[in-house]
Amino acid sequence: MPHILFEKKELISTPSFIDGVDFKFIAQSYDFSQNNRKIEYRVATKYKDKEFLLAIKPKDENFMIKADKVTRLSPVSLIKDGLNAYVKENGAKVLFSNTNSFKIEKEEKHKYLKDINYFVDEFKTQNEIQIEIGFGSGRHLLYQAKTNPNIQFIGLEIHYPSIEQLLKQLELQNITNVLVVNYDARLFMEFIESNQVGKIFVHFPVPWDKKPHRRIYSNEFVNEALRVLKVGGTLELRSDSRNYFDFCLELLTNLPKANISIDINKDLEVTSKYEDRWKKQGKNIYDLVLTSLNEDKNIDLSFNFSFEDSINFDEIITKIPQKATIFKNFFVHIEELYTILGKNNSGLIKVTMGNFDRPVTKYIIIEEGKASYYQGNPLPTSSNIDAHKNLKEILFK
Ligand SMILES: C[S@@+](CC[C@H](N)C(=O)[O-])C[C@H]1O[C@@H](n2cnc3c(N)ncnc32)[C@H](O)[C@@H]1O
Repeated sequence: MPHILFEKKELISTPSFIDGVDFKFIAQSYDFSQNNRKIEYRVATKYKDKEFLLAIKPKDENFMIKADKVTRLSPVSLIKDGLNAYVKENGAKVLFSNTNSFKIEKEEKHKYLKDINYFVDEFKTQNEIQIEIGFGSGRHLLYQAKTNPNIQFIGLEIHYPSIEQLLKQLELQNITNVLVVNYDARLFMEFIESNQVGKIFVHFPVPWDKKPHRRIYSNEFVNEALRVLKVGGTLELRSDSRNYFDFCLELLTNLPKANISIDINKDLEVTSKYEDRWKKQGKNIYDLVLTSLNEDKNIDLSFNFSFEDSINFDEIITKIPQKATIFKNFFVHIEELYTILGKNNSGLIKVTMGNFDRPVTKYIIIEEGKASYYQGNPLPTSSNIDAHKNLKEILFK
């Protein structure tokens, strides 16, 4: 992580501009938990049309400056230039720096690897969608994509080496109908329109016998699956774990407007590495297929994450709750507060919120009472929406 250690000096005055880098303001940490933590600063920086915060922390008698973890962005050269510009503007003596690498950062993105925001803002297809969750080596997904060129496949994985391997194969085999996302499958489907998906494959998911809350299948997951599936569309589990199969069977039994079918040791056209291994060991392979018979309402991804009212920041910092507020499906935790130097009623609130499995950390910037999310809104998931509503109650109480 790029950083510079420099001799402590007075902070730069803002706004200021040097080497193409804009420093808009500096905010100072507010010790709201009153445990005498050392004062830190956040420097609001704009460079090449991107906004991010730099963090200044005391280190012994000196200062250390680096990127704030929450607002960090790529390419890393933006951060390095920002750090160098700050220290130059400050005229400080540098004691250590790792920001002068001459290596050209190659951060080219593969065209089929998509960010989750792409599915919120841009993704559209006229074709049927099929999704594979936890594609691993990708054998099954590649086979399906080649055999069904008119289907738009989406592959979800959280293991990056598997993603890289699949992207390489897509290129080598000239396959153009697969989009790949590095995202937790339990939360992904919230961004897919209703009734658009023909099949969802979940082959050999990790059974998580000791941590069942980490399983892909849950009541919420099954409900989202039923919503995105077309009438006649299927959610297909294939597993060697009898335990996991029984757990899923219980979840899927007695659902209204859905059918289930069960198979044991059914042969598929293509087998995965896992399947080969289990078959060699003589294990049974279970299939559990859920067919949706329901048509659902479309979802709304255009939730308005604004803060309409004016915030009295100077007042709320003295009474904002330090403890997380926890509800069944979401939470809100105010972690830090900063006051913007030289401006009234202005500051930063660092908050972690949303879903317990995939919380989001954001800064809220308040400038003379007007609040907004720094670097853009959270994703419009149901838990983020609920958390935002709760946050407004906390701020405007
Ligand atoms: C046991 S492997 C099976 C891989 C492949 N489906 C097969 O049959 O060979 C399970 C895969 O699911 C992925 N995985 C686990 N949890 C996930 C999640 N929440 N979202 C997406 N992928 C996940 C893992 O990274 C792993 O590659």
